[in-house]
Amino acid sequence: MVMGSHQDPGVLAEGVARFVPPGVDPSTLPRSFALTEPMPARGPVPEDWATVPQFRRSSEHFVANVSIEADTSLYGTGEVAGPLLRNGFVTEVWAKQPFRIEDDGTVTPHYDERSKSLYQAHPWVFAVRRDGTAFGVLADTTYRLGIDLREGIRLSCSEPFPVIVIEGASPAELIQRLAVLTGRIELPPHWSLGYHQCRFSYHPDARVRELAREFRKRAIPCDAIWIDIHYMDEYKVFTFDPERFPDPTGTNDYLHELGFKSVWILDPAVKAEAGYRVYDEGVSEGHFLRDAEGYEHHESTWPGEAAFPDYTRPETRAWWMRLTREFLERGMDGVWVDLNEPSPILPLGAELPGDLAHRGGDEMTPGSHAQYHNVYGFLMAKATDDAMRASRPERRPFVLSRSSYIGGQRHAATWTGDNVSSWKHLHWSVPMVLNLGLSGQPFSGPDIGGFARTPSSELFARWIGLGAFLPFCRTHNSLEGDQEPWSFGAATEKVSRVALERRYRLLPYLYTVFHEAATTGLPVARPLFFADPADLSLRDEGHAFLLGGDVLVQPRLLKEERDNLPMPAGNWRPFALAGEDPASEIDHPILRLREGAIIPLGHGGQTTRDAFEGPLTLLVSLDALGRASGDLYEDAGEGFGYRDGDYLLTTYQAVLSGGRVEVSVAREEGDRPRSVRELHVQLLTSTAVLRASGIDGESLLVQF
Ligand code: GLC
Repeated sequence: MVMGSHQDPGVLAEGVARFVPPGVDPSTLPRSFALTEPMPARGPVPEDWATVPQFRRSSEHFVANVSIEADTSLYGTGEVAGPLLRNGFVTEVWAKQPFRIEDDGTVTPHYDERSKSLYQAHPWVFAVRRDGTAFGVLADTTYRLGIDLREGIRLSCSEPFPVIVIEGASPAELIQRLAVLTGRIELPPHWSLGYHQCRFSYHPDARVRELAREFRKRAIPCDAIWIDIHYMDEYKVFTFDPERFPDPTGTNDYLHELGFKSVWILDPAVKAEAGYRVYDEGVSEGHFLRDAEGYEHHESTWPGEAAFPDYTRPETRAWWMRLTREFLERGMDGVWVDLNEPSPILPLGAELPGDLAHRGGDEMTPGSHAQYHNVYGFLMAKATDDAMRASRPERRPFVLSRSSYIGGQRHAATWTGDNVSSWKHLHWSVPMVLNLGLSGQPFSGPDIGGFARTPSSELFARWIGLGAFLPFCRTHNSLEGDQEPWSFGAATEKVSRVALERRYRLLPYLYTVFHEAATTGLPVARPLFFADPADLSLRDEGHAFLLGGDVLVQPRLLKEERDNLPMPAGNWRPFALAGEDPASEIDHPILRLREGAIIPLGHGGQTTRDAFEGPLTLLVSLDALGRASGDLYEDAGEGFGYRDGDYLLTTYQAVLSGGRVEVSVAREEGDRPRSVRELHVQLLTSTAVLRASGIDGESLLVQF
């Protein structure tokens, strides 16, 4: 084989092949941004390779067509609103703050199923064939890409691009193979799996403190309070408003005392104002994007005229890291990076011109904004993540980024942006999170209750009931009405409390699923067809979903309850978690456990610190042969000790024999000592829940 370019065609790994348009010299293609590291070809693509793109060239575009067999279902394409199944849709891979012209003529920065592109850029299509085998198509380019799924898969771009095809014997194998190429999440800190309360914006400091007290007074579980842009001095990034937040360290200390973490927002745009230190440094050290003539480029953003850091430059990322590290010295626990598509604020829909010059450095060659636009958010998130790691090497970073590129899960979680308080958007929360998971990003969730407008109490209740079972669980809203769990009256407050208590009880299982995502790349929330890939009736189910492999979540997301949600084959037994009240039944998704599964439950708590301590319950559902098994992954929930063995991965098993079920530890891995704790077993049968108690690690017998 000719040793050569990083983009040579050929087989890259088992089930992975790269194709390059004929007539294009691979050495002229930009280095891959999607792959965590360059993958040279190991050998030629075999003649019988199942899925081969056909390249074409029109006067304006390079096109790759992939034909599909009948009953092939298409997904992925990153962040998209609308149904789960993407067949028939035309979208664009172009990081964008969407906007919409409303019926009354006003322009709003919201999206719907007609939006061609949203904040995240994932040039990726996930396909499941009729027989349940799967393949994926990755257009390995950072340029704007068209994805047309009306007849097969048609990808088009103004620049030539290689196509990587991944085969999988199942959807699960396909997503794991994608993760080998584009990376996985790292284990997040425990607290980030708790409930988050956010608003644009909680201010001043006294309001933040009052909010924190209110959560504890009302005994509503919550781990983090988020601080949006009003903390800044005139929206200048890395500053603090002297009146609203005179002492940010004090704000954080106060939150910490009450058991909260804090997450503060950073925007990329830097107000162009001489005398403002961040801007002055950016100018003198050459950090800002320039136009083709070399003039610093400005756009209108929250603070007014502003310049944009060129994160392709290693020096600029180092500068951003230094600023972020100084910022973090005040005790912030997480950072939220926003508007990093990047998006000017005015006029709505404005974008940075494609001919701005990125100067690059190290492995990034100089290139236009048209080339680097889609990775701007990724690079900002990476620099922020690197800053968190460098500032406190003993702690796990937490970054939430609105924009990113495929592979962005390595540096940040995400949310589905500026949604609207409407039933449609409530419903889209599920397919959006599922398609992000099928694009490699398992840690996402919507603004619970909707960002724009104010939800009715009915809508908020339904949304928090659902949101409690999505990977990232945060309420956020805009400048309009209040959106705390108690803002809609006593009944909705109760629904919220119960919804979050349910999440907090499920955390040992949820964390085990996150561990699976971090080690394999499997999504946290998965479409139902993962349970039975060949069952065509599950392919477009966008209401119910799987949490990990064992829990089926069936929310009622239409205003009126919908009957007959499809279910994968097998006996999925319903179970209760905490105080589900028949009066608010419709707000709380029905939870079902796969037959043959055991899941670990905690006892709940007001914070994740409580929720991971204390008694453990194993919920057991035997299969037809009277057997079940399931894992519990545990570690410190913070820091990196797990890398040196400070974790415990337990496989519990249950076996029915002679009218008794014996529950025991089948396998354990890791050096972390088993806690001496009460262990309760609950056996779900078709008619009753049978119980037994003992100490974790000892075998327990349940009479059947
Ligand atoms: C953007 C974000 C939103 C945030 C607002 C103010 O619209 O998407 O979440 O609250 O900016 O920072």
